[in-house]
Amino acid sequence: MPNVMTPPFDRRIGVPLLSRLRTERGQQDPFPIYARLRTEGAVVPAPWGGFLVTRFGLCDEVLRSGAWLEPDRHWRERQGLSTRWLAPSAREMSGTLPALNPPEHTTVRRTAGAFDRGTVQGMSETVARVTDGLLDTLADRLRRDGEADFAALVGEELPLATIGDWLALPSADRPRLRELTHEQVFAQELLPSASQLARSDAATAELRTYFMELVRERRTHPREDDPVSRWITTWDDLEPDQDKADEAVYFLALFVLLASLETTSTLLSTMTFLLAERPERWDLAAARPDLASAFVEETLRFDPPTHVISRVAAADCTLGGVAVRTDETVHLMVGAAHRDPARYRDADRFDPFRTRPAHLAFSGGIHYCLGAPLARLEARTLLRQLVVRLPRLTVVRRPTMAPRVAFRRLLNLDLAFA
Ligand code: HEM
Repeated sequence: MPNVMTPPFDRRIGVPLLSRLRTERGQQDPFPIYARLRTEGAVVPAPWGGFLVTRFGLCDEVLRSGAWLEPDRHWRERQGLSTRWLAPSAREMSGTLPALNPPEHTTVRRTAGAFDRGTVQGMSETVARVTDGLLDTLADRLRRDGEADFAALVGEELPLATIGDWLALPSADRPRLRELTHEQVFAQELLPSASQLARSDAATAELRTYFMELVRERRTHPREDDPVSRWITTWDDLEPDQDKADEAVYFLALFVLLASLETTSTLLSTMTFLLAERPERWDLAAARPDLASAFVEETLRFDPPTHVISRVAAADCTLGGVAVRTDETVHLMVGAAHRDPARYRDADRFDPFRTRPAHLAFSGGIHYCLGAPLARLEARTLLRQLVVRLPRLTVVRRPTMAPRVAFRRLLNLDLAFA
């Protein structure tokens, strides 16, 4: 095999870059760090083992290929008790859809049911009504205080109300569920600290109790037009053991909540930040409502909510000329791949007129995000209403970013009338 890079590698290459990436400052603008990482190679050895994949073509290839697997419960067990993979929260995640591999993944994904055109259309009225109400609050606050935090008032609220209504979760429970989601996500981060994992463990335990109770309640009192009641019927046909059926429904409900909240909030706030940051973008969006989808897609490319997706090698192989052994991890650096000049012309420019806008924000292959149509609906609805209802807004101060790597999060987005 010509030009294959084999161990031992210099794993220190990425240390300074990753140390910067995981700080609040690094997250303010991670793209120069990604550019440096790309110059180190298409497949860069990670300091802790495994590899970082920086190029679009290779990330896309890994996502679409059966030669790469999700780090599932068998893989996690092989990593050993002392690793983060066997923390209670990480173990719990191994029961959810994106931690399953075929054939189990195929069965469970079929039972989830997709957000098809009909389902999404049915939700569009709720999304429009909720958006309208949230923008009323935002406008009131802007008038009253001279500035308002879009992330708290709209970005965090719209996804919560949308998924809360769909799952028919009592309104009073929702703020707590949002807090728990913020805590839980650490188990899915690239480099969680021990204390972050402990917070995730506590949140995961509370979420299990909540959703197991919800499943039991819906089993006793099934509702019409309720996904949880439908999942119970579906799983009862597949699984004779009722406890196991309930557990399967619990994992679906839990993951739909976790998957939809932070990611969609980040999309909504990032999109609004990009608009408010440059008057010409806001004016273009206001003048051209037909570009709403293109604005959403370019936001998803330019700065996606999820910057890292991980896979493990099913067998010894090479990737981009680098030898990878069975069970070794590759971290697909989606945020870097989306700025890959080999894929996108003028990749660092926000350009809603791109002729080749396809991206990896919703992953690819068999794990392609089930909620993508819903996230897109929320973002499009918000964008259209925002630029019609309000005059141009401007960013008062740069948002503070959560010091994480995989899941981007704006902790605030303070806006004012321009
Ligand atoms: C902008 C918002 C969103 C982003 C960026 C996003 C991103 C992703 C990504 C990257 C994956 C794949 C992970 C992997 O390949 O390992 C995924 C999977 C998934 N997402 Fe989303 N997501 C979003 C919103 C949603 C919403 C609103 C829902 C549900 C209502 C949802 C439900 C799911 C589910 C169930 C999966 C697992 C699919 C599988 O493993 O087969 N997502 N999402």
